Amino acid sequence: MALERTLSIIKPDAVAKNVIGEIYSRFEKAGLKVVAAKMKQLSRQEAEGFYAVHRERPFFNALVEFMISGPVMVQALEGEGAVLKNRELMGATNPKEAEAGTIRADFADSIDANAVHGSDSLENAAVEIAYFFPATDVFAR
Ligand code: PPS
Repeated sequence: MALERTLSIIKPDAVAKNVIGEIYSRFEKAGLKVVAAKMKQLSRQEAEGFYAVHRERPFFNALVEFMISGPVMVQALEGEGAVLKNRELMGATNPKEAEAGTIRADFADSIDANAVHGSDSLENAAVEIAYFFPATDVFAR
């Protein structure tokens, strides 16, 4: 498997639940390294830009409102097959459908407030990492 990087966001619900450390621990135990990180209050413009591909979806406004409802923790993760590995750790979008032991099964309350975001492809991962981090803020480890 190839060494990859992916973008992860711990969403406002999980930050409010004080489980940043628990989620980081899952990344590390799965062999994913944090190579960039920051806590951030997203502006409406930043959230709309990040989710622009979903602009026509019925939940777009609700998603943006939720993502700006409090600070988020944004990180780039690096590891073998990082994109898929992170998606596996996260579990299904709807926590009711998420496998036991996944982040969403354990920490998410609903499909609207589902604890984490993770890039869904290597191509999107590169775009999403660049959206939040200049190359000089991503550290090879
Ligand atoms: S994907 O990867 O595009 O197929 O994912 P998808 O399930 O289509 O969802 C895209 C993002 O929208 C969020 N989402 C929702 N937010 C609010 N309400 C509803 N009903 C809803 N359905 C999906 C979902 O969590 C995805 O956000 P991210 O941050 O990418 O996980």
